[in-house]
Order: sequence, then structure tokens, then C-alpha cells
Amino acid sequence: MSSQFPVSRPRRLRRSEALRSVYQETEFRLEDLVLPIFVEEEIDDFVPITSMPGVNRIPERKLASEIERYARAGIRSVMLFGVSHHLDATGSDTWAENGLVSRLVRTTREAVPEMIVMSDTCFCEYTSHGHCGVLHDCEVDNDATLVNLGKQAVAAARAGADFISPSAAMDGQVQAIRSALDGAGFHNTSIMAYSTKFASALYGPFREAGGTALKGDRKAYQMNPMNRREAVRESLLDEAEGADVLMVKPAGAYLDVIRDIREASRLPLAAYQVSGEYAMIKFGALAGAVDEARVMRESLGAIKRAGADQILTYFAMDIARDGIEVLASQCACRPASQPPTARLWSVGGPCTDSVGGRLAGRRATGGGATARQARTKTPRLRGVPVSSSRHQTSGSPTCSSFMPLVPPTVW
Ligand code: PBG
Ligand code: ZN
Repeated sequence: MSSQFPVSRPRRLRRSEALRSVYQETEFRLEDLVLPIFVEEEIDDFVPITSMPGVNRIPERKLASEIERYARAGIRSVMLFGVSHHLDATGSDTWAENGLVSRLVRTTREAVPEMIVMSDTCFCEYTSHGHCGVLHDCEVDNDATLVNLGKQAVAAARAGADFISPSAAMDGQVQAIRSALDGAGFHNTSIMAYSTKFASALYGPFREAGGTALKGDRKAYQMNPMNRREAVRESLLDEAEGADVLMVKPAGAYLDVIRDIREASRLPLAAYQVSGEYAMIKFGALAGAVDEARVMRESLGAIKRAGADQILTYFAMDIARDGIEVLASQCACRPASQPPTARLWSVGGPCTDSVGGRLAGRRATGGGATARQARTKTPRLRGVPVSSSRHQTSGSPTCSSFMPLVPPTVW
């Protein structure tokens, strides 16, 4: 390391879009993203989740058409959360043969057989007290909850889930689920363990989304956010218990933990960009403080760079619709002084329709109109219709196939 500046000039490789793209170290693909969705029984219309702009609770009866819409957009995997109207002390609806968990899995599986179906496996949306298991003397009873997790896992597997995804944060839950699945003959049903799950304040908006009755917190079973060594230990325990995929949750504030686990295990690793992370970006953009399209992509790229293979994110449909890349605001053939894309933006700021949403409803019922057709007809949408090759990363886009996706305030 003798010769440094002026011999070393890292800026040489940043001089053009082409160079920057060639030397970019990290990319994410649409296939890496998992879309978490909230599906409520016994309602007729989409219900906007006010703390997560652009995200709606989906009425159970519209689930099939929503899943078809996601598949058309290129989404490969969904994580299902049920919003139940049948609460009791143990969350027994979760393992009922025709309970909400089973129905959601079955409907999804039948709507799009090739969709990868992940069933969130917990009780907090199904218990009258909102805790993630059975309560005994004001404490969640670990081992009693394991039995019920096994029952729920078998119900979801029977309905056709590809992944059982236990998020209850009980000790031994992966082992209990693996043996329940194997005992019922579901050797090929995988487990994506929420293996390092912190007791995070970033789950705030999810409480509204999932409609949990919880008063208090989950600190007696979810991890202390300040613990890095224990985070690795938790994931390695789940690996030993038979997890097929590990997960860190939340993601953005825990990139060090993602990296640690990436280095400690050879299993695939997922990371969950949770409701609060989503909300902070959305509201920051709505306030005009940050550029949503770019911050969303930067946050996802950073999670990938830290070592995650897969990312659960409420932005998955936004990325599916608008593409992986967001072009730099200056394009050689279109000087920044010309604002050609401004009209593509709604006057009131960035479009907030993403998962579900008004457009979603229209598209889903649009007589088979493809997402692309819907896009051309909808002036409020960002960007312009582009070829599907845009969903691939890299390449040096031309101005004719790409439009800058920056809000008008930038121009
Ligand atoms: C419940 C569960 C939570 C999330 C996923 N599963 C909330 C919690 O543990 O309190 C959070 C997801 C999000 O915030 O996006 N087991
Ligand atoms: Zn829970």
C-alpha cells in the first residue's frame, strides 16, 4: 500500500453510468423479494392501513384476484397474515381444518399454483389477549405454545404451504414444527424461521395492520435489540433444530446482525424490512424530505449487501411495477433543465398506491387488463411502460426505454 493519491483515484471508476454499473458490487432481483400481505375475513372492501400508506387489508374474498395480480407483476413469493374475527385464549382458529390460516393458504395455492406460499405461523392475530402463545399466570407458556405451533404448521402444510414461518419467538419452535410436520408426512414442507427476531418498536404499524389485541410488549420472548452475540446464537439454534432458511427481523437497523449470521451459517438468509421501516420511508417521502423511489431501493440494496438472500418487504409490488433500477436524474441526452417526466407525477406528490390500493382494485377488476395496460391508462403512476427487460438489473438504459423516476421537486 505504498502508492496512494495521486496514483489512486477511485473516482476513475465512477465517471459514467456505464462504469458505475459495471463496477456495482451488489444487486437485488425481483425474485429476492417476498410480499407480506394482510388478509381479513368477513369484510367486503379493501381497508387502508393508515400507518402504512399504500398498504391495505385485503378482503378474503378478493385474495385470489390479488394473488393473480401479484403473479402477473412478477412476484414469486408471498407471506400470508390473517386478520381474524375469531379470537380466543389460544388462537385455536389457526389450526382449525377450515380456519383462516388454512383458507388463505389454500386460496393462494389454487389461484397461482407456482406462487411460493409462506404462512406466518403465530397466534397474536388470533388470541383475545394478543400474545404470541398460550398465557399462564400472565406469562406466555413456551412449551404449551409449541404444541399449538405444531398443530398450526400441519394445518398450513395440509392446505399447501411451501414454507411454515414461525414468528412466535418460542424456544424450540423449529424443532417442534419439524417433528409435527414429519409426523404428519409433510417432509417436504420447509421452515423459514424468524430465527433472530428482536422486540422492536419498528413493528408499530403492524399492530394496526394485523389488528392484534396486545396491550404491553413481547420482551419476555422476543430478543433484546442490543444483543449481537445472542442474535447469532438464536439463528444457529434454529439451524440445529432444522430450519431451512433463517431470518433477521427487522432488517435495516440490524445490518451488522445480518452480516454476522451470513458468516456463521451456510443456510439461506432472509431479512424482514418491517412495517415501521416501510412507514418511515413512505412518510418521509410524503413530507417531501426524501425521494421514495431511491430510498426504497437503497434500503433494499443495503440489506442485500449486508448478506441477505431474500427480503420480505411491503415495497415488493412497487418494485415489480416500477423496476429494479431508478435512473440517475441526469441523462446525457436529456439535460436536467428539461422536465419531461414531471407530468407523469401526481401533483400532490408521489403516488401512494402500492399493495392493494385504489389502482389495485381497479386493475384487479379491470376485465383482464394487464398491469402494463393499466399503467398506460393511469396518469398518476410513476414512470412509463417499459419492456420487461427492465426488471433485470444492470445494463445501461437508454432514455427511450427509461424515464427518470424522480419527483418533480428535484427538477
Ligand atoms: C407477530 C408478528 C409481528 C410481525 C410479524 N409477525 C409483530 C410482532 O411481533 O409484534 C411484524 C411485521 C412488521 O412489523 O412488518 N408474530
Ligand atoms: Zn405473534
